[in-house]
Amino acid sequence: MTKRSVSRNLVTCLASPKFSLNVLCLVVTVFVLLQIWSFHITQQPILLPPSLFTYLKEQQQEPEQIKSENETAYLVEKLRESVTFLPLKDLRFSNKPLEGHTWFMSSLYDNQTKGEVQYQEFPSESSKGRLLCLKGVDEHDGSWNYYALAWPQALPVNASLQEGLTFVSYNHYDYGNMWHGLSAMVPFVAWSLRHQCENPQRWVLYHWGELRFKMGNWLNEIITATYGQNTEFLRFRDKNRPVCFEKAVVMRHNEGGMSRERRMEVFDLIRCKARHYCNISLSETSKSRIGMTLLMRTGPRSFKNESAVIDIFKRECKNVEGCELKVSYSNNLTFCEQVELMRMTDVLVSPHGAQLTNLVLMDRNSSVMEFLPKGWRKLAGVGQLVYQWGTRWSGMRHEGSWHDPDGEICQFPDTDRRCMSSVYKNGRIGYNETYFGEWAKSVLGKFKERKMANVVGRKHSYGSLDGCWC
Ligand SMILES: *[C@@H]1O[C@H](CO)[C@@H](O)[C@H](O)[C@H]1NC(C)=O
Ligand SMILES: *[C@@H]1O[C@H](CO)[C@@H](O)[C@H](O)[C@H]1NC(C)=O
Ligand SMILES: *[C@@H]1O[C@H](CO)[C@@H](O)[C@H](O)[C@H]1NC(C)=O
Ligand SMILES: *[C@@H]1O[C@H](CO)[C@@H](O)[C@H](O)[C@H]1NC(C)=O
Ligand SMILES: *[C@@H]1O[C@H](CO)[C@@H](O)[C@H](O)[C@H]1NC(C)=O
Ligand SMILES: *[C@@H]1O[C@H](CO)[C@@H](O)[C@H](O)[C@H]1NC(C)=O
Ligand SMILES: *[C@@H]1O[C@H](CO)[C@@H](O)[C@H](O)[C@H]1NC(C)=O
Ligand SMILES: *[C@@H]1O[C@H](CO)[C@@H](O)[C@H](O)[C@H]1NC(C)=O
Repeated sequence: MTKRSVSRNLVTCLASPKFSLNVLCLVVTVFVLLQIWSFHITQQPILLPPSLFTYLKEQQQEPEQIKSENETAYLVEKLRESVTFLPLKDLRFSNKPLEGHTWFMSSLYDNQTKGEVQYQEFPSESSKGRLLCLKGVDEHDGSWNYYALAWPQALPVNASLQEGLTFVSYNHYDYGNMWHGLSAMVPFVAWSLRHQCENPQRWVLYHWGELRFKMGNWLNEIITATYGQNTEFLRFRDKNRPVCFEKAVVMRHNEGGMSRERRMEVFDLIRCKARHYCNISLSETSKSRIGMTLLMRTGPRSFKNESAVIDIFKRECKNVEGCELKVSYSNNLTFCEQVELMRMTDVLVSPHGAQLTNLVLMDRNSSVMEFLPKGWRKLAGVGQLVYQWGTRWSGMRHEGSWHDPDGEICQFPDTDRRCMSSVYKNGRIGYNETYFGEWAKSVLGKFKERKMANVVGRKHSYGSLDGCWC
């Protein structure tokens, strides 16, 4: 501020009708002028607020040590009080909740190294040594839960400190669905792989900033197996009591940013750990054997005529030496039965649906054949591709998807979204004997070639015959 602008402000201010305001104007103006004057003399701006300045002056009469202890305590108290909590869910970004800094902890940026997982760690260089603190107990609206950063010496009033490592997860979908849940876990496993296999002491789960306290059973088992310990979910008990974390790692982009190599490493580890957890031998299965598994669903997206479908695959399997066919229902298999089944599966035949997530537990380079009901190709959006992505990320081969051309009739045109929600979403799947037969024959043939060429393997960097990487 220059002297001229000060005087201009003084004039505007004095024009105010209230006498008390005029006096205030004068006082402020004199103060500002003094500051400018002292600045000119010392060439140093006075940065301390006047009250603190006076306070520190008074302290000069005290003996040195008491003075500085008193001063530090005072400043620490001020620091504690100045910790500012912001809403976890920032509604300003609700039109692009997943982009860049996202709408979750939107004031903070991820550590982004090309090809690596995007994450935030606290304390870190970028947090200037500050810890992450969370507050709030809301399970329905994430804008009523809060976050803040605080130095360990000056945690906010009423805060408690949680020791050890805490994983804080943001999931845009949910933790109950096998696929969406697994996607949210992948970045944590990737982080652990790069950080001496460090195990979390506890988890904090958020969906849209809302607290969640459990994950689906399959996912819970995967995480228990991967980290070799039960998963603990932090409960926030009192909305006035923040919780700060000695060390916290935050993920909000799932596997976004990770290269295919990095993703495959994660699934190698998960697969290896799951087999280990289920006491399943890590040794090779017989070289001449080819396992083909029909993993069935019940209800929506199940096959309308299962026996017809089974017969087709049985026939094709019989024509290939060493081929063994298994028919299973994911709904009545325990976790370890699923792990065991996938270890024996080279070609997985299954309708689109969460049970397909099991594909990551097969040996690398195994094959997947997927089936979708009528209407999905046009109306289901990119969501229908998740298992194609999952197949690629985990080092498997997606051998294509069959879209049923027939099915229930929708009263609207077949590009109308209403058809998806009312009819196609829960549609069931028919069959085409010629197509299924030729398809199965071709996939089995290619697989046999690969097996002969010895490229279907259990040996890879993050899980080998002698144990898992972590
Ligand atoms: C600083 O010390 C003085 C005298 O010892 C005491 O009266 C005052 O309350 C202290 N201030 C703080 C903030 O502790
Ligand atoms: C980002 O991560 C890399 C690799 O872990 C690390 O070397 C770097 O210090 C991190 N950067 C920040 C700002 O935390
Ligand atoms: C600390 O907790 C108490 C009791 O829950 C509450 O009344 C008080 O407002 C809290 N103080 C702050 C600064 O949140
Ligand atoms: C695996 O074996 C160990 C020791 O023999 C046993 O304690 C554990 O319950 C077994 N786990 C499963 C899933 O069978
Ligand atoms: C299923 O398909 C078989 C073989 O094509 C047929 O014989 C049978 O009637 C069908 N069952 C139903 C319930 O449609
Ligand atoms: C598994 O579930 C399917 C479909 O619900 C059922 O037909 C089958 O009998 C069940 N198998 C066992 C062993 O319970
Ligand atoms: C079944 O598949 C075959 C081979 O792709 C195709 O020629 C035939 O038109 C299909 N049949 C029906 C009824 O869609
Ligand atoms: C999978 O197949 C590719 C090429 O077909 C091969 O280069 C790779 O080594 C195989 N991976 C494993 C784990 O066997």
